[in-house]
Amino acid sequence: MPGCTLETCTPFLHFERGLRTIDFVPRHPKKPPSPRAASPRTDPLKTLKSAAQTPALTDDAHGIWLYRGNSLAVLDGLAEQEPEGLFDMIFADPPYFLSNGGITCHAGRMVKVDKGDWDKSRGPELNHEFNTEWLRRCQKVLKPNGTIWVTGTSHVIFSVGFAMQQLGFKILNDITWEKPNPPPNLSCRYFTHSTETVLWAAKNERSKHCFNYALMRQIAGGKQMKSVWRFTAPKGEEKKFGKHATQKPVALVERCILASTREGDLVLDPFLGGGTTAVAALQTRRRCVGLELEENHLKISVKRVDHARHLFLKPHTAEPPPCPDEPPLLPTAKS
Ligand SMILES: C[S@@+](CC[C@H](N)C(=O)[O-])C[C@H]1O[C@@H](n2cnc3c(N)ncnc32)[C@H](O)[C@@H]1O
Repeated sequence: MPGCTLETCTPFLHFERGLRTIDFVPRHPKKPPSPRAASPRTDPLKTLKSAAQTPALTDDAHGIWLYRGNSLAVLDGLAEQEPEGLFDMIFADPPYFLSNGGITCHAGRMVKVDKGDWDKSRGPELNHEFNTEWLRRCQKVLKPNGTIWVTGTSHVIFSVGFAMQQLGFKILNDITWEKPNPPPNLSCRYFTHSTETVLWAAKNERSKHCFNYALMRQIAGGKQMKSVWRFTAPKGEEKKFGKHATQKPVALVERCILASTREGDLVLDPFLGGGTTAVAALQTRRRCVGLELEENHLKISVKRVDHARHLFLKPHTAEPPPCPDEPPLLPTAKS
């Protein structure tokens, strides 16, 4: 692609078409992978000069590292450097492919759905190719027991779920995020769209994933937490450092982090946008690497993280305690 640099092209131009065949994860590895590969306490991307640009924000004390770059290229470099996996959890809010000339209601007015070039659909096949390629890379950089959360509407989530199955992820839950106060449907020809899906999956069938059952039960008022979660869209307070068109509420990402990681764990967001995952990680004392293609979006992230880290949060000091509800490691079944 002439004149196309890592930062200026749309995501579709970045992944190699030659990498299209699906690599199924081998079911019976020779030896079980180490369940708790050590997490770095300093910038995990420091030695990745080729793929990642100069960091937009690095804070070793709080464990937050934000980079501008194409996540597909950066994750290729990371996977090569860390073949055992690096991240305990990934929160991915990818392009939904819904900026295609439709209309919606914003602040009481009819507006075109246009979130940016990065959100335009290239048709179902290319969209699925893109989803498969970024998910393949995420799977490689997950630790053996790591999990991934992916948000989406019907425009993208079926492809994400199918790609997960093709790649050998283990789907753990499909969470319905219910928005209590959605914008009205102006055409009056459909139901008001009021939900999004969040898929939660483990790296593969052998993963012994972390689930903080007791904490989730406590948050649910002493009952088992259901897979329907109610959160309002981000309020003004969460947008005071700039608006990202598809910003997620911090509370939603916090819930995902609290459910599936321990304090001090390392979280990746390959589509950082306005930085919600980094803020949620800070607030829950987890560490976070965020990757974002667009400079304007990254600027919002940096401002939000900068604000959050100076509020009340103490840097990480000790090694994280074990995941309280993690099941004991069982020997891998023989074939
Ligand atoms: C749905 S938004 C994420 C919003 C974010 N969860 C938040 O709460 O602010 C997706 C983001 O991914 C970015 N993006 C798209 N393709 C990318 C790529 N290949 N690498 C890195 N970022 C990418 C877009 O610029 C956009 O900001």
